[in-house]
Amino acid sequence: MPNETFVCENLSVNEQGHLTFAGQDVTHLAAEYGTPLYLMDEERIRHKCRIYREAFEANFAPGSTVLYASKACSFRQIYRIVNEEGLGADVVSLGELCTALSAGFPADKLFFHSNNKTDEDIRYAIEKGIGCFVVDNLEEIRVIEAESARLGRRQKVLLRLTPGIDTHTYEAVNTGKVDSKFGSAIETGQAEQAVVFTLAQPHVNLLGFHCHVGSQVFAEDVFERAAVVMLEFIAAIRKKHGYTASVLNLGGGYGVPYTDRDGSIDIAEKIADVGRTVRETCTRLALPEPVIYMEPGRSIVADAGLTLYTVGTVKTIPGYKNYVSVDGGMTDNPRYALYGSEYTCLTANKLTEEPVMKADLVGRCCESGDVIQPNVAFPDSIRRGDIVAVCTTGAYNYSMASNYNRIPRPPVVLLHEGTAKIAVRRETVEDLMHLDV
Ligand code: LLP
Repeated sequence: MPNETFVCENLSVNEQGHLTFAGQDVTHLAAEYGTPLYLMDEERIRHKCRIYREAFEANFAPGSTVLYASKACSFRQIYRIVNEEGLGADVVSLGELCTALSAGFPADKLFFHSNNKTDEDIRYAIEKGIGCFVVDNLEEIRVIEAESARLGRRQKVLLRLTPGIDTHTYEAVNTGKVDSKFGSAIETGQAEQAVVFTLAQPHVNLLGFHCHVGSQVFAEDVFERAAVVMLEFIAAIRKKHGYTASVLNLGGGYGVPYTDRDGSIDIAEKIADVGRTVRETCTRLALPEPVIYMEPGRSIVADAGLTLYTVGTVKTIPGYKNYVSVDGGMTDNPRYALYGSEYTCLTANKLTEEPVMKADLVGRCCESGDVIQPNVAFPDSIRRGDIVAVCTTGAYNYSMASNYNRIPRPPVVLLHEGTAKIAVRRETVEDLMHLDV
């Protein structure tokens, strides 16, 4: 068997030599729902939520909460699932906010991010009773103060700070450095200015601070180091200004394995390490232990996702290279094109055949950059009509999908205890023309 081990536990192979995902034969799902197709394994999402929640209960001060970073994958059903699992959520736009609210997500468990919230964003979110803003800059504080004064509220906020930590992940997601577009830097004194300004606003209630150092982070100790920098800042502000933050939000970022060359992270162990660091640092600084929030996105949904495609053109260029083209591409998964991200790709209906032929797995967009994954091993018999599965696509695939070349986006089908249900229907060409006048 060429694929004895899989990149995730929810993958297996059945007696027909077909790939199964969450216990279901993916070739049957492809036949029933068509391709390209996003599958999401509900049990896997719930399992990850529980790992985080239990680790939080065991390691952090009471009231500490896991917030699902919904930019990783946002559609109604996912908000329902994470809400049922007792998590809060982070939203970054009116689109995510409205989707969460329409799924019945309690507004007071939502945290509104973004480095550039519009006046409309702020007004709408306050009117809807948003739990907390994660404030990026002073301009935002001014607008929040004005809007919450108008509505006679006192709006809870966290201030986003940059702790000056380099996570050594890819540049597009390395956000904790001083020169980041996000937040106010501790090093430059701007963070302190933001605190002083915020505390002077009568209709703004500063709960504490936020940082997010990066995404797909595997580096040792990054979250512990961030916690120490942030707690030292909290202690310095307490000493100088008499204000004690009661909340510390450490953001998201734990990495997940996309191929068997990647390591994997034991979330429970990592959270325990962060918990220990927070307790020790608070003791050293004589600080009351703050409530801790974290905002995992990828590590909750990535391996709960799988994308299926149907093979179309198979092209060999003798002496050069081979191409296997499928009916999706950078429109449903732009991550290789954007970041050079690696994926595990499997020929789902031919798992028992030896994958001996190397080819680039490409999409059907009109540009050469439309590569899902280069250098994939396929069985020699690969041909039109075969089903290819790309694993670990639950995070930042559907949420980053586009309509480039006017290609409609695939549906999302949610798998749960042997059943399959459409969570997002397939976009049609009519949907695409819907807004054209
Ligand atoms: N909190 C904040 C403030 C964030 O900016 C992010 C991700 C998260 C939490 C969640 O991080 P996670 O646990 O998912 O690593 N499109 C890129 C990822 C962008 C991440 C942006 N921020 C990708 O496909 O790799």
